[in-house]
Amino acid sequence: MKIAPAILSADFLRLGTQVSEALDAGVRRIHVDVMDGHFVPNLSMGPLVVAALRPLADRFSAVLEVHLMIADPDRYLDAFSRAGATAMTVHVEACRHLHRTVAAIRGLAAQPGVALNPATPIGALEDILPKIDVALLMSVDPGFGGQAFIPETVDKVARLHMELVRRSLEHVEIEVDGGVGPDNMRALANTGMTIAVAGTSVFDPERPIVTNIRALRAACGLGPA
Ligand code: DX5
Ligand code: ZN
Repeated sequence: MKIAPAILSADFLRLGTQVSEALDAGVRRIHVDVMDGHFVPNLSMGPLVVAALRPLADRFSAVLEVHLMIADPDRYLDAFSRAGATAMTVHVEACRHLHRTVAAIRGLAAQPGVALNPATPIGALEDILPKIDVALLMSVDPGFGGQAFIPETVDKVARLHMELVRRSLEHVEIEVDGGVGPDNMRALANTGMTIAVAGTSVFDPERPIVTNIRALRAACGLGPA
């Protein structure tokens, strides 16, 4: 079980410090939410932020993942690769030629991931599953941090996990994104989630980041990293 802090919920004035704290607490995957105001209603970050985080991630050999909530993501794959993204996740709903996009990500030596919105059935992944490293199930409608977890995602994770087992594709990670916290970690981990994206629950300013990460790990029966 990996925890991928979503920096969308971080304090941007102290982004470097906060990401360092998360890395010190043992995380090895940083999740960068990229939004374009078209595919989702919000605007967020681009390659400059990825480039700024790259030296930090390198120091810990951490994966720097971009979650591309943007229309026609092919236009930006080169730019994110040059900035230092080592995993790129695109939305099935935003890609006209998903197979080509996944091949392009692989060609840039990054981990290809494909994301599904909450209302998109897992059948949409059927033919691309053998080509990807990560299947990301959105557990909120994409666009904003801090939204409530959609509980039906637990069953969706279970169904995807069964499909991966049936096809001997268990190496494909199941990543869950949106509203993930200590109260739903265990159910998700038990049904097959292997990467938990966590924004609000990691960067909650009420407690130190290391405490928040420990709480997430403890919730699924893991000790400190
Ligand atoms: C939502 C983003 C998520 C989100 C996670 O559009 O893809 O990564 O920021 O944040 P929380 O954990 O606060 O839902
Ligand atoms: Zn995300």
